[in-house]
Amino acid sequence: MNDVFILGIESSCDETSVSIVKNGEEEIATVVLSQMDTHASYGGVVPEIASRMHVENITMVIEECLTKASMTMEDITAIAVTYGPGLIGSLLVGVTAASTLAYIYQKPLVPVHHIAGHIYANNLERKMEFPLIALVVSGGHTDLIYMKENYSFEKIGGTLDDAVGEAYDKVARVASIPYPGGPLVDKLSQQGKDTYKLPTPLDDDSYNFSFSGLKSAVINLVHNEEQRGNEVSKEDLACSFQTRVVDILSKKTMRAIDQYQVHNLIVAGGVAANSGIRSKLKELCDQSGVNLTVPSLKYCTDNATMIAAAGYFAYTMGRRAGYDLKAKATDPLH
Ligand code: KG4
Ligand code: ZN
Repeated sequence: MNDVFILGIESSCDETSVSIVKNGEEEIATVVLSQMDTHASYGGVVPEIASRMHVENITMVIEECLTKASMTMEDITAIAVTYGPGLIGSLLVGVTAASTLAYIYQKPLVPVHHIAGHIYANNLERKMEFPLIALVVSGGHTDLIYMKENYSFEKIGGTLDDAVGEAYDKVARVASIPYPGGPLVDKLSQQGKDTYKLPTPLDDDSYNFSFSGLKSAVINLVHNEEQRGNEVSKEDLACSFQTRVVDILSKKTMRAIDQYQVHNLIVAGGVAANSGIRSKLKELCDQSGVNLTVPSLKYCTDNATMIAAAGYFAYTMGRRAGYDLKAKATDPLH
């Protein structure tokens, strides 16, 4: 079979990214233009600013990626794009760019779900083996997914309220830890101790998660200590919070592995960069003979490499979109 070169486009949040990936596993070139510095002064992503910046940058990022790869559009087999879920205005920019390119160059257009992209970031590390359990942890998702085979996604549990990344970011904000909170809470956690009494989040027989109670407990603790004039140790608070999160995520993930009798675990999404999650799952997987794959740090947060990798599998399975592909702010993974 001829080599398949997918040009992936990702613009679902605050990264404008384009990448070319060969056969779903080999990164040829990637450009990621992050808007993080712009949004940092607002303490979070401002959707209107994000979509305007995507509009300003998308053409340049596409051209830069092709130049970096020393390729032209003629060398590209198909174009894959994140159609959702995400910020609608941001998604629209990527979808419009992708469908326009596909039309002009008469290339197949392949729709990719953002979370499928996060999952297939793992295929850039090593060939994914099935069946597997995927723990998806990002700013918008906390899901346990059973994959019997390539591109088959069965959600077995998910968060009932806040996504884990969202909880990290809110905890950071209340503890006056600057945006983006997640990575900094993780860093502080490594310097602290688990000293604060925080509740264990939803420890039941389901594969669902709930982080709002834990998040509220942190908020109450900070406010109470402030009222008493006591200083809160950010390091210890971060460590106590992270310990609760990591314990429950790893406990339910390992139970899913056991029940579904799989030997492969992958972790996906921005929070897959978390040091606590990575080390705890490594320890537990080593103990039980499970193959653990985590994406390298550059593939954890939003990027188009993962979209092009997932796009390859969607393409080979015949998934196609028309030039009228619609962006979707919400959409279940199927
Ligand atoms: O996947 P992603 O880039 O965007 C979404 O699709 O949501 O994930 C971003 C989320 C943010 O909430 C960020 O704070 C969190 O991932 N994050 C982390 C870490 N690195 C990024 N959370 C905890 N520990 C980290 N090291
Ligand atoms: Zn993401």
